[in-house]
Amino acid sequence: MNTILIVGAGGVSSVTAHKCAQLPEVFHKIHLASRTLSKCHLVAASVRQRTGREISTHHLDADNLDESILLLRTLRPDLLLNLALPYQNLTLMDACLATGTSYLDTANYEPREIARFEYKWQWQYHERFRKQNLCALLGSGFDPGVTNVFTSFAAKHYFDEIVELDIVDVNGGENTESFATNFNSEINIREVSAVCRHWENGQFVESPSFSTHRTFSCPEGIGDFEIYRMYHEELESLTQAYPSLRRAQFWMSFSPTYLRNLKVLSNVGMTGIQPVDYREKSVVPLQFLKSLLPDPGSLGESTTGKTCIGCIIRGTKEEEHRTIYIYNSCSHESSFAETGSQAVSYTTGIPAMIGAKLMLQGRWFEAGVWNMEHFDPDPFMEDLNTLGLPWSIEEHDPFLKENRP
Ligand SMILES: NC(=O)c1ccc[n+]([C@@H]2O[C@H](COP(=O)([O-])OP(=O)(O)OC[C@H]3O[C@@H](n4cnc5c(N)ncnc54)[C@H](OP(=O)(O)O)[C@@H]3O)[C@@H](O)[C@H]2O)c1
Repeated sequence: MNTILIVGAGGVSSVTAHKCAQLPEVFHKIHLASRTLSKCHLVAASVRQRTGREISTHHLDADNLDESILLLRTLRPDLLLNLALPYQNLTLMDACLATGTSYLDTANYEPREIARFEYKWQWQYHERFRKQNLCALLGSGFDPGVTNVFTSFAAKHYFDEIVELDIVDVNGGENTESFATNFNSEINIREVSAVCRHWENGQFVESPSFSTHRTFSCPEGIGDFEIYRMYHEELESLTQAYPSLRRAQFWMSFSPTYLRNLKVLSNVGMTGIQPVDYREKSVVPLQFLKSLLPDPGSLGESTTGKTCIGCIIRGTKEEEHRTIYIYNSCSHESSFAETGSQAVSYTTGIPAMIGAKLMLQGRWFEAGVWNMEHFDPDPFMEDLNTLGLPWSIEEHDPFLKENRP
């Protein structure tokens, strides 16, 4: 009897809850807990309506260690899926250690006061998870997550050695909002505003955010997009797992309107993460901005178009140079029709479900704290194909002009 506890009731969590409910043979009992109980009720009602399954809902402030331990002791899940925010990662990992529960998340821990994306805090838990025979799977979303698995799948089946990696994340979706982020706006703006870092000849090299860009032609007629180089957390674990990588870069598409709005907001200090005094109250500008922006979970109904996220991997096979491009494209409209959420939540929520499934089945279970590329990519790739995120492989380099459609 497998029991899971999903923490957080936002866009990603809602997709994961729906997809877990579609697999009763794996997920026997599903609990959902979050800070705002009414949001858990909304997710549970949608899951009931779409799948006929009941999930139990609970209130939890996951910043509170005692409260988290108490809930885990009461529910005794086999696995906790942390789909709240990166701020809660360490508290929830501590609660898992205190109660003998395995752990999964989709984004690395960030302290509230510095926007630094590093695994070092969570990797320090490795020995404690190992000693208790518990498994923690880090970054089981799309990027990080599927991008790590695409890379390890390519390294396993297509190359003797991989030397260059370009991860390209395009959201070709459009909606009626003048400025909206496609997942939690506080976390999203912290991430995209950070100094850019990419891997070059054995070290990370810094450059100003949004300073390097190029045009990318997506396959399947999705279109041409301006993509900007930025730092993303999977670069840290992948460059360690594959020391043969000479260069590793992450690129994301942004529309001119998004960039213009972000620049203005940043110029006037609205993206700041340090508290400021306002009428004798302490206010964090970015948190106030988040309260004004559309809830990404509510964008599903009005978003059209597709996401297209993939990895371009260059290396050698039997001493010949080789390049492959592995990607998934996902429609906002069909994601919404199936789960009530747009494709960015959908493409994150499904890998969280697949990671949980493989852990519970014992196929991706090893005591310790692991990133996705540690495990055999094959069962994960099979599940992506059958459980909602089919992928394609093309043997060419989409960064070369002559290969553009
Ligand atoms: N790897 C990937 O590909 C990827 C892509 C997108 C997002 N993500 C990650 O996925 C996570 C969820 O994103 P999202 O877009 O679903 O965010 P979201 O819609 O803002 O949902 C976050 C949820 O967490 C809850 N929460 C926040 N603080 C909490 C606390 N102290 N205790 C309990 N619950 C708390 C929120 O509750 P309230 O409603 O009360 O605020 C909300 O229900 C984030 O960590 C994000 O970085 C990963």
